[in-house]
Amino acid sequence: MEKILITGSSGQLGSELIIALSEAYGEENIVAADIHEPKNKDDYLFFEKIDVIDKNLLLEVARKYKITQIYHLAAILSATGEKHPGLAWRVNIDGLMNVLDVARDLKVKKVYWPSSIAVFGPNTPKQDTPQHTVTDPGTVYGISKLTGERLVEYYFYHYGLDVRSLRYPGLIGYQSLPGGGTTDYAVEIFHKAIMGDKFTCFLRQDSRLPMMYMPDAVRATLELMEADAGKIKIRSSYNIGAMSFTPGDIYRMVKKHYPRLEIEYRPDFRQEIADSWPRNIEDSYARHDWGWNHHYDLERMTEDMIMNLKERIPATG
Ligand code: NAD
Ligand code: SER
Repeated sequence: MEKILITGSSGQLGSELIIALSEAYGEENIVAADIHEPKNKDDYLFFEKIDVIDKNLLLEVARKYKITQIYHLAAILSATGEKHPGLAWRVNIDGLMNVLDVARDLKVKKVYWPSSIAVFGPNTPKQDTPQHTVTDPGTVYGISKLTGERLVEYYFYHYGLDVRSLRYPGLIGYQSLPGGGTTDYAVEIFHKAIMGDKFTCFLRQDSRLPMMYMPDAVRATLELMEADAGKIKIRSSYNIGAMSFTPGDIYRMVKKHYPRLEIEYRPDFRQEIADSWPRNIEDSYARHDWGWNHHYDLERMTEDMIMNLKERIPATG
């Protein structure tokens, strides 16, 4: 019987992963945890308000529920991290070490921790960015993810802790709004289109980034975690890719559904972050080792996002 703790459960990824994990393991076996209460607490059987910087509290909760797996999602993302570097470091690194220590000490069976394309930097090859290449991130978020990759690998080789990780591209989903990243524009455009509002994009029209639709990201996560341990050859973090597009590309795609949608490009400090990241990702290790395969391209994602978001947002335009 598995008992799964999800930190950062109120966030963009957590609010989707918790649904998939509840379906797979039974909601009575899932413990949601976040520093912020979820919008609807009734959605969860068990919710614990936790600051991951508080190691004693983490330990107490993990003991209380006899946790066997931890999905550690709590983090400060790239754009917020540039505004609050000290906080980003404490949450992303101290928080991660706390989770790894608790998992090691309580002999937790498996830990999932996400990394990001933010581990790459201005000197990384931008086209088909390989698994093993230059990693010189220029953001505190990217530096924390790169440090995290080294840490999780260390805990695997030194303590035998089965930690697994993916370097997600920008994630696009409809369950909740994103939490302060550089790729957030690709979610916001759908909300604006449905509400009939003009969209102001904080990146340039031609700023190409790797992206992934949330159902693919959730499936990748579960597939990685369910794979035989022997198949997981990379113990830092796997590159995974799906699609790659620019703000101009997604605008044209969404406009097919909302012909009156207007866009204005007003790049801000996030443009420099985007410019330092890959354009697309080479992910043959993930495809070879544990069978990664994406299902959604820009067109399919756009149709599905609009269909699902329309039920959630009252159209005014
Ligand atoms: P998010 O910002 O939407 O959610 C993060 C959650 O962590 C929030 O609910 C927040 O309240 C919580 N949190 C922050 N500080 C905390 C603390 N001290 N203690 C407990 N909880 C705390 O982010 P997300 O998009 O859901 O990202 C989840 C994970 O996936 C993160 O590790 C992120 O780096 C990674 N990731 C996300 C993307 C993306 O595009 N969304 C891409 C690459 C990697
Ligand atoms: N999408 C994330 C961000 O923009 C990348 O990890 O911060």
